[in-house]
Amino acid sequence: MKGESCNINDKGKSCCSTTTEINNEVNLKEHWDKAYLNSPEDKLGWYETDHSPMLRLILKTGLNKSARILNVGSGSTTLVDELLNKGYSNIIATDISEVALKKLEDRTGSNKVEFIIDDLTKPTKLKKIEPVDLWIDRAVLHFFTEETDQKIYFDLLKSKTQSKGYVILAEYNLSGAELCAGLPVHRYSKEMLTEKLGADFELIDSFEYIYIMPSGAERPYIYALFRKK
Ligand SMILES: C[S@@+](CC[C@H](N)C(=O)[O-])C[C@H]1O[C@@H](n2cnc3c(N)ncnc32)[C@H](O)[C@@H]1O
Repeated sequence: MKGESCNINDKGKSCCSTTTEINNEVNLKEHWDKAYLNSPEDKLGWYETDHSPMLRLILKTGLNKSARILNVGSGSTTLVDELLNKGYSNIIATDISEVALKKLEDRTGSNKVEFIIDDLTKPTKLKKIEPVDLWIDRAVLHFFTEETDQKIYFDLLKSKTQSKGYVILAEYNLSGAELCAGLPVHRYSKEMLTEKLGADFELIDSFEYIYIMPSGAERPYIYALFRKK
């Protein structure tokens, strides 16, 4: 698994075949827009319909259905459909890819979701939103391999999570692959996530979870739920 790419699909290999090419790629927005344009959604290397690990942690927060939920790096995830079906009514989906968000908007067609195109490593619109009750991230933080980008991400998370609010992070764990969607990743343990969040956040629950890609390959994740003090 080491060094192996979880490319978007077989065709996706051509869009980002080596790490060197990726490092030279200046436009990440374009990279992600292409990923969503070049593949059917259910063939994307991160596509899933079983959201039970995330839903288990969301349920554990005890938040009510009108809680303000921010899904960062949401892409076109069906988690949003699932939350709407369960009655959650105050959701923000944000992503660098406008193609992904457009797909999500067209599919859900809901006025209960706000869509924000922004870059988590250079946030502008996100800096202006009101704090949220729940910050959800599946598979975006692990793309930030530079310490400066990680700091910007965690500063935003800390300032935009309400006091007594919750954070769920689901990222490649230490035994996971070193590339995802053809990009290098920074893998995490629950201890690393706890350290990044700092003393204002308490770890409530965590577990490891093996995600099975549409190709059948396994990708081990760490899921962790935190509460802000
Ligand atoms: C592996 S996908 C996961 C998508 C979604 N969370 C899911 O579980 O299906 C990573 C997502 O992060 C988004 N992304 C990557 N870099 C980003 C950045 N700097 N700011 C915001 N979104 C970003 C991509 O466009 C993509 O939708």
